[in-house]
Amino acid sequence: FSNFECQSYNTSSVIVNYCRLKAVSRDRVVLHYNATVLHPIRTAKIRLKVFKRESGFKPWLLETTVDGCRYMQKTYNPFAKLVYKMVKEFTNINHSCPYVGDQIVNGFYVKPELIILPFPTGTYMLSLKWVFNQKHQLDTNITFEIIEDL
Ligand SMILES: *[C@@H]1O[C@H](CO)[C@@H](O)[C@H](O)[C@H]1NC(C)=O
Ligand SMILES: *[C@@H]1O[C@H](CO)[C@@H](O)[C@H](O)[C@H]1NC(C)=O
Ligand SMILES: *[C@@H]1O[C@H](CO)[C@@H](O)[C@H](O)[C@H]1NC(C)=O
Ligand SMILES: *[C@@H]1O[C@H](CO)[C@@H](O)[C@H](O)[C@H]1NC(C)=O
Repeated sequence: FSNFECQSYNTSSVIVNYCRLKAVSRDRVVLHYNATVLHPIRTAKIRLKVFKRESGFKPWLLETTVDGCRYMQKTYNPFAKLVYKMVKEFTNINHSCPYVGDQIVNGFYVKPELIILPFPTGTYMLSLKWVFNQKHQLDTNITFEIIEDL
């Protein structure tokens, strides 16, 4: 990971307490995230989009929208499944709706055995736009580097 940005667009609905990367060793950067949801979330749409840096970030290959509440009852979207599989052991967001209170991702890093996407070497951004109760309320954007092992 090389950058992590979060922004709440409605602080009476969700407050981002922290959103940061931490280098824990020479070759591992982990992600910490803590946000407080103030009113129960009963509908959550997540727009996932991958960008690739080529003189600015350009939309790249993957774009999908997932119904988070439905997904957590029965996984159905292959791209969401891939992302969720990577993060699930680091988060308390591992249940279905409603969501309320502190939403945590603690010390997340990608286990090498879970990297199965054939991305060429480069800088990418995974942008997640969170639409709660029908309103775009939160962004979490993660920038990461991929170096192909040739
Ligand atoms: C996240 O990325 C999207 C897509 O590029 C952008 O529209 C949005 O402003 C970014 N949000 C933050 C908080 O950086
Ligand atoms: C912000 O969130 C509150 C609580 O969920 C909601 O009542 C309000 O309509 C939201 N405001 C906007 C501008 O989305
Ligand atoms: C998350 O942030 C809240 C508000 O600052 C704090 O009370 C809580 O202890 C934090 N949770 C974790 C696991 O760090
Ligand atoms: C969610 O994660 C916690 C902590 O890792 C675990 O104790 C709990 O069983 C998990 N819940 C589900 C539904 O997987």
